Amino acid sequence: MADTSPIGIHDLSFATTEYVLAHTALAQHNGTDVAKYHKGIGQRSMSVPAADEDIVTMGAAAAAPLLERHGSENIRTVIFATESSIDQAKSAGIYVHSLLGMGSATRVVELKQACYGATAALQFAIGLVRRDPAQRVLVVAADVSKYELDSPGEATQGAAAVAMLVGAEPALVRIEEPSGVFTADVMDFWRPNYREAALVDGQESITAYLLAAEGCWKDYTEQGGRPLEEFTAFCYHQPFTKMAYKAHRHLLNHCGHGVDEDRVARDLGLTTAYNNVIGNSYTASVYLALAALLDQADDLSGQAVGLLSYGSGSVAEFFAGTVVPGYRAHLRTAAHRAAIDRREPVDHARYRALHERSFPTDGEEHRTPAETTGPFRLAGIRGHKRVYETRAQRPPRHSQIPR
Ligand code: CAA
Repeated sequence: MADTSPIGIHDLSFATTEYVLAHTALAQHNGTDVAKYHKGIGQRSMSVPAADEDIVTMGAAAAAPLLERHGSENIRTVIFATESSIDQAKSAGIYVHSLLGMGSATRVVELKQACYGATAALQFAIGLVRRDPAQRVLVVAADVSKYELDSPGEATQGAAAVAMLVGAEPALVRIEEPSGVFTADVMDFWRPNYREAALVDGQESITAYLLAAEGCWKDYTEQGGRPLEEFTAFCYHQPFTKMAYKAHRHLLNHCGHGVDEDRVARDLGLTTAYNNVIGNSYTASVYLALAALLDQADDLSGQAVGLLSYGSGSVAEFFAGTVVPGYRAHLRTAAHRAAIDRREPVDHARYRALHERSFPTDGEEHRTPAETTGPFRLAGIRGHKRVYETRAQRPPRHSQIPR
């Protein structure tokens, strides 16, 4: 008989960038009514990486607190999900594994399917833990969302990393079966290997997201999933926070519920607080929505939360998580708020300069200016190799919270 002991998210931590650009500054620069950003797309500001930050420095910064609390002895797999990869061959996870001083008896791999990658990583991690419940898997989702300057997508940039420790008898959220899945071959958003900024057909991408949401929900119900009424809240992938509202209204209509705006606000209201000031963090986005919900809700013990993960191109998955009684003792709410509040506002000129920055491809040594105050930095590139360093040496610390 199959083992049905609960598996899920045991701990979750996120990190974002050194800098932040307010949408008021963007609106002032391009002559847009700021209400389009604040109300129209539901965004207030976006995280901007410093010259010495990238998916690896953010991913390691997100994961370090998990290892400090739980140690790394039981982690035999690290899965790094990203769509802003820094190398076509080597996994960004190996740099993180090294920066965190993890043991060599670990498998490390990078996964990609646009913003959906982290959910694939979570599901694969659950499969590994199901095979050996003594093991834990470190899932890191990190992305820098980048569109062309002065393009419509520019207002939906951002950057962040979420790290999740996946294991048996989790302290935060049990991931349930079944999942509803959906794939369709569409060109709504893509990034050829030779480009740094993504290409996107904005309106097509919104339509594709809604179709995928409907498709994975349909599969979820056909697989015997919960009815809509059983969910206390819904965490959607949030390329901009208003997209979650569009998707939820679409789902309610599709299920014949009609759209009661009070209900929509109740279902989504607490899930957008981090994404509306961080911006799109691609793979990390739906898990930032989960973090915002867990950090802010009064008490969700025993309640079901729906998660809808969408990655352009496109793949979507709907699944449920049950919040574990006692979870609040394990949250990192203060650290999460600090990660957002510590960002230094930059003006538009500085943001543009950072946006246009890239390493020369000549194989010479190019050092980055020391900007980040985070725990890890990208020191530069030498002989086509990225060089990372630890800024502040943190002594290994195990908290009182049971492992
Ligand atoms: N006051 C209030 N609201 C205003 C306004 C004003 N002055 N001016 C415009 N608005 C509203 C519009 O009515 C619109 O709202 P609705 O969609 O509810 O009608 C909203 O603001 C946006 O306006 P536009 O549609 O005119 O905006 P746009 O064409 O300039 O760009 C965008 C919007 C398509 C999302 C663009 O930012 C974009 O291309 N972003 C990148 C793609 C993206 O995020 N797609 C989401 C789905 S794909 C996905 O989820 C994967 C992923 O992460 C990329």
